Amino acid sequence: MDIFLAPLIRGIGINVSGESRVVVPGETGAVPPQALQVDLSAVWGERFDESGAAKVFQESYTAWEFDMAPAGVEAAAAPHRKKQPTCVAVKRGQSIEAVYWIDEDLDKAERRRLSQDATPQEYAGSVKPDLSARRRAEVVKNKIALVTGGAQGFGAEIARGLAGSGATVFIADLNQEGAQRLADQINREEKRAAAIAATADVADEASMEELCRTVARRTGGLDICISSAGIVKAASALDQDLAAFNQVTAINYTGFFLMVKHCARLMRRQFWTAPEWKTDIIQINSKSGLEGSNKNSAYAGGKFGSIGLVESFALELIEYNIKVNAVCPGNFFDGPLWSDPEKGLFSQYLKTGKVPGARTVGDVKAFYEAKVPMGRGCTGLDVMRTIYYIIEQAYETGQAVPVTGGQVMLH
Ligand SMILES: NC(=O)c1ccc[n+]([C@@H]2O[C@H](COP(=O)([O-])OP(=O)(O)OC[C@H]3O[C@@H](n4cnc5c(N)ncnc54)[C@H](O)[C@@H]3O)[C@@H](O)[C@H]2O)c1
Repeated sequence: MDIFLAPLIRGIGINVSGESRVVVPGETGAVPPQALQVDLSAVWGERFDESGAAKVFQESYTAWEFDMAPAGVEAAAAPHRKKQPTCVAVKRGQSIEAVYWIDEDLDKAERRRLSQDATPQEYAGSVKPDLSARRRAEVVKNKIALVTGGAQGFGAEIARGLAGSGATVFIADLNQEGAQRLADQINREEKRAAAIAATADVADEASMEELCRTVARRTGGLDICISSAGIVKAASALDQDLAAFNQVTAINYTGFFLMVKHCARLMRRQFWTAPEWKTDIIQINSKSGLEGSNKNSAYAGGKFGSIGLVESFALELIEYNIKVNAVCPGNFFDGPLWSDPEKGLFSQYLKTGKVPGARTVGDVKAFYEAKVPMGRGCTGLDVMRTIYYIIEQAYETGQAVPVTGGQVMLH
């Protein structure tokens, strides 16, 4: 039930604090008296009525907050400070079905669970809009993010960038070992529970469903969902075999749909109890999603198609305050896709003579760099800046933002 309950509880915490929250499951033993108790027996029949449950959560929260108010204080006499429960018990009549602990990050939520400290947290009303850049650095702080293809390349840069800015990041990748290695490294560097490795195949629906269940169980929900898993199998349209074309499409295009389908369901549950909270889905697309790519049609086709998905998802999901955008980077020459000494594209292009006159990997690299008006490849930092912009920009959705050093310009 974590996948249904945890996001609703997380939404309550977000709605009260106006900030991200982490929700972790606890033991269903004795419930501390300060806990918010929610009886779902009216909506928990043979089928679990999700939106009915959201309503019960909201009503139970209002009643709980009233009970927690200091006796004899007139609401009008003191500025209203909202209270957020740090422990929520879900009941069916007298039976306690689940207990969850809430705090602003994973470490704090775990500490609460271990100490059974259910003291409510207090928040002053709403935060005023701030026209300075002060809050920019905080745009992902304490948020929960998921990065597919996060073990390597752009995905790894993004996972590092988000964790370094205070987010908790799920590194989801087919490469389990690589994801775990990176998560361990990030946690050591950040000195906190900043990254969690998760095995996932974006082309497999059951795997994406299981990934979302893991996210709900470990942190309660999701604020930022980044699709970076992708592959390239470049070939002439006259020669490419169907299996290769289908594999590229299954990962780059269908995989993006599967991620959005399951992650957006999780985000929608939070929305039901935190209707003001905006969440983000961002696809790492490509400059090849904006203009064709010679002898690389499966890749460019999937990337162009994904921009159609981005626009369509954006139209549909804004109802739940989920923004959907794409970043279209230029070539990441320093990443493993290009620079891996054995399998990298520079070595491959040198071996196949794709760049006339090139004698070294450096010659091939220089040839490609010369195509970029700014004279260099795209980096993780270039992509991160765009991601921060997209998340901070609350008034935009359905866009594809190029980051190509001027190589591809909008028409
Ligand atoms: N490298 C570039 O020059 C470049 C340029 C523009 C856009 N992009 C896009 O950026 C994204 C990342 O590219 P990259 O260069 O970092 O690639 P990469 O090959 O370095 O890393 C891709 C990661 O995705 C993982 N992956 C592959 N298939 C998967 C699947 N089915 N499920 C889960 N994980 C899977 C791999 O294990 C790997 O860790 C891709 O979508 C790519 O199209 C790359």
